[in-house]
Amino acid sequence: MGTKSQLLKLFEENKGTYLSGEDIAERLSISRTAVWKAVNSLRKDGYDIDAVPNRGYCLSIQTDILSVQGIRKYLAPICRELKLEVFPSVTSTNTVLKEQAAAGAPEGTAILAGAQTQGRGRIGRSFYSPSDTGIYLSILLRPNDCSPLQATKLTTMAAVAACEAIEAAARRSAQIKWVNDIFIDGKKVCGILTEASFGLESGHLDYAVLGIGFNAYTPEGGFPENIESIAGSIFLRRENDGKNRLAAEFLNHFMDLYSCRDDHAYVEKYRQRSLVLGKRIRILSPSGTIFATALDVDDQCRLVVRYDDGSTQALSSGEISIRLS
Ligand code: BTN
Repeated sequence: MGTKSQLLKLFEENKGTYLSGEDIAERLSISRTAVWKAVNSLRKDGYDIDAVPNRGYCLSIQTDILSVQGIRKYLAPICRELKLEVFPSVTSTNTVLKEQAAAGAPEGTAILAGAQTQGRGRIGRSFYSPSDTGIYLSILLRPNDCSPLQATKLTTMAAVAACEAIEAAARRSAQIKWVNDIFIDGKKVCGILTEASFGLESGHLDYAVLGIGFNAYTPEGGFPENIESIAGSIFLRRENDGKNRLAAEFLNHFMDLYSCRDDHAYVEKYRQRSLVLGKRIRILSPSGTIFATALDVDDQCRLVVRYDDGSTQALSSGEISIRLS
């Protein structure tokens, strides 16, 4: 770890506390000039670091910049093996991680970004990914002997983990609009896009890149006009470490579900958080729109619906999306 990274780790672990230049220099085995240079470099990255003669340096408690050091403070032991990388901005964390996956990166490689210039959503849509207010995260998974059907469960598992993370970090209850949208108070606050590569002969999953985007805060000036009526944010006001905590809580909850593989328990959690069960919905597919009532989520996480002619069907996500009608 370089000097700047080590200093950030020290500051993140002692947020709001003054550390003398001498103390820092000794702990990191560097000169006081090197401390001063690293402090200035962190300031250029946006960190609010106070300097007071005879007291030292202090990272403001209000700083909320996504970083590996900031996230690691909140990670549970189950995430110890994850290899995290955080960038201020990338094209799309899914795109970057897919390149790494194709080059052989191991399971548990995770890319996070504070902004995306080409954020992607389901069904070829774009995903609004402004800087400073969101978390854009992708994690590489290589489960053994995983069929396409089992692979679709990674998305629904992530949806449950996202709700649990929001509940833990923001103390607000979140619901799932089948299959991958997370809502709070009727507004979408998070979306999930899982992209997979399958072996031609085995038909089994080679890797999956699970991507998730959280609207942590409302952007200054609000959401753009085309999404302002549906988009919402997780935190109602700026929170100390909001983004780092939320990212870590998602990883903690997701890795818990992923490593436990108790399908039954997590599907039940999915059902309990469903926004659509028992409701009238519109089903949008390339072949048109049809009305139905959402009856259940089955053990494969398909949405069981009843059409107005009384027939029922279990829908897999694919090209389908639904709206509450
Ligand atoms: C959707 O709502 O349709 C899914 C949105 C998924 C967005 C996330 S943000 C991190 C990852 N990188 C992307 O380009 N997309 C996913």
